[in-house]
Amino acid sequence: MATDRPASPLESDSTPSLGDDNRSTHSSSGSKRTQSITSSVYDYQFKDGRRYHAYEPGLYMLPNDDTEQDRLDLQHHIFRLSIDGPLHIAPIPKDYAGHVLDIGTGTGIWAMEFADDHPASTVLGVDLSPIQPDFVPANCSFRVDNIESDWIADEKFDFIHSRAMVGGIKSWPNLFSQAHAHLKPGGIIEVQDVYFPTVCNDPSQTSTSVFVAYNNLLLEATKRVGLDFQATTKWKTQLEAAGFVDVHTRWVNWPVGPWAKHKKNKIIGKFTYADFTGGLTMTRPFFQNVLGKSKEDVDELFEKVKVELEEQKIHLFQKVCFCWARKPRVDGEVVGGQEAEKGENERGEEKVVPKEEENV
Ligand SMILES: C[S@@+](CC[C@H](N)C(=O)[O-])C[C@H]1O[C@@H](n2cnc3c(N)ncnc32)[C@H](O)[C@@H]1O
Repeated sequence: MATDRPASPLESDSTPSLGDDNRSTHSSSGSKRTQSITSSVYDYQFKDGRRYHAYEPGLYMLPNDDTEQDRLDLQHHIFRLSIDGPLHIAPIPKDYAGHVLDIGTGTGIWAMEFADDHPASTVLGVDLSPIQPDFVPANCSFRVDNIESDWIADEKFDFIHSRAMVGGIKSWPNLFSQAHAHLKPGGIIEVQDVYFPTVCNDPSQTSTSVFVAYNNLLLEATKRVGLDFQATTKWKTQLEAAGFVDVHTRWVNWPVGPWAKHKKNKIIGKFTYADFTGGLTMTRPFFQNVLGKSKEDVDELFEKVKVELEEQKIHLFQKVCFCWARKPRVDGEVVGGQEAEKGENERGEEKVVPKEEENV
């Protein structure tokens, strides 16, 4: 059942510390990867010291090197922590025996953990980059492909998952429409992502925050290349338009840095701080190549952003959306769940209603 409730400001802690315990790793068990891939997908592109995907080069603007993979795995833990551990909010039982697709699987961490948690399922992770490990659970495999091209005609899934893909998907309506066509009746889709721009806990600081200004410029740049970093607020409408029913949406807040009270907020804050500061320089192409700013101007902007984040005087948080929906079990099934959701997820970019996580 949907659980949105209006956001209230997070409570600030008077003694925040950034510390250095903000990194984590994952491990997987099991057998060798099952998918064979041609060597051309390893002909990576290199620019300004970063490594980029080779399959349909240029399609995705962020790197795929070790630094980025570490950031993705860190982000994986933030997503999990912020909903108290699970990999999804959709009602998927432990003994789930479905065929699962993970769209834009990245390092494959979600796909591998889902496969481990649900040994009766089979999980396929698809990505432009073959950056997943060689040794993965026996029920997990990976494929290199562009998820926005036509999907394999007769391939059907029970559960489709997509996380942190606003930087990759150009048309969410098309994606949802393909997902609907490739889900079995009653099948589930879940999408999770952050909403931009980042928010000041004290709204009066919005106009002075360099990080908010940086976010707004990034929004403008991504819009120019056909991406929508505010897609989360449109998902419900788009999912329903694609034929899904029972759309459930839940918002959580990620503090940026350890400024918010309570243990869970502090851990998420430290991880989010590492995520954003670590990911800062890789957004350079959006500022220089897309917005046409000089290297010097971008250096200056990044420096100011780093100082603001490090100082922790402006308390920032990121709104994050978790959304799942179901393909009707039979043709013409009446939409359900709307009564329960009434008023919970107002749409429209000006009306994001994040749910503040309960403090622990
Ligand atoms: C920010 S990462 C998210 C990775 C993963 N979903 C996670 O949450 O850990 C985005 C991933 O999507 C992949 N990607 C972007 N556009 C894609 C496309 N059109 N088809 C397949 N993968 C894509 C990128 O290569 C990258 O690995």
